[in-house]
Amino acid sequence: MRTVDVCLTPDLLHQYELAGKNVVVVDILRATSCMVTGMAVGVAAIKPVASLEECADLKKQGYTTAAERNGAKAEGFDMGNSPFEYMQPKLKGNKVAVTTTNGTLAISKSVDADEIIIGAFLNLTAVANYLLERPQDVIILCAGWKGKFNLEDTLFAGALVQKLTKDGQFEYACDAALAAEAMYKDASTDLMHYMRNSSHAKRLGRLGVVKDIEFCAQHDTYAVVPRIQEGELVI
Ligand code: MLT
Repeated sequence: MRTVDVCLTPDLLHQYELAGKNVVVVDILRATSCMVTGMAVGVAAIKPVASLEECADLKKQGYTTAAERNGAKAEGFDMGNSPFEYMQPKLKGNKVAVTTTNGTLAISKSVDADEIIIGAFLNLTAVANYLLERPQDVIILCAGWKGKFNLEDTLFAGALVQKLTKDGQFEYACDAALAAEAMYKDASTDLMHYMRNSSHAKRLGRLGVVKDIEFCAQHDTYAVVPRIQEGELVI
């Protein structure tokens, strides 16, 4: 029987065996929501990198550079980390290099996985169907905030756990998966209430970022399942 596990923050990842498993990286606000949006609307390639320096260097190779730190656009880069920025027509068919506070770091820590899959509420069902068709166990890695637990990524993990276990195709690997699902079941009656009260939504609100929250809470806006191949996202 396949299992689904939840790693609540990348700081706990050393306790998990990634080899042979599919890892779903989630950063709802907003890295993986941006990646899913970009790949869905026609960005040709998205290259997640962990550092500002790596991102800046890729400008010379023709990448549009997207960089966020602490929720704000980093100085000297072409764009920040709003999904609405990834909808710009000028990005269609072009390549984006991206670095964010937590999301791209979580991706860089998942290299031992069989496959790294990019998950968000925006492509929740597509990700679930992709995983249900494959034999590997699953670990859902929540990007969190600087090593701490966050609400929105764990809510996504609970939503995905619910989809994978509902017909008995996956079983719970540990209590984090059970807890995430229970939290999502409680929150799903008014998800926006939970999302608006999350620490990162409030942090973004202080930066004037409001509409991103509602957009990133939408379920199944897109059907793409971005995966990492040779360091870049493909669909
Ligand atoms: C993150 O890396 O935690 C997020 O992408 C931060 C953000 O976009 O505000």
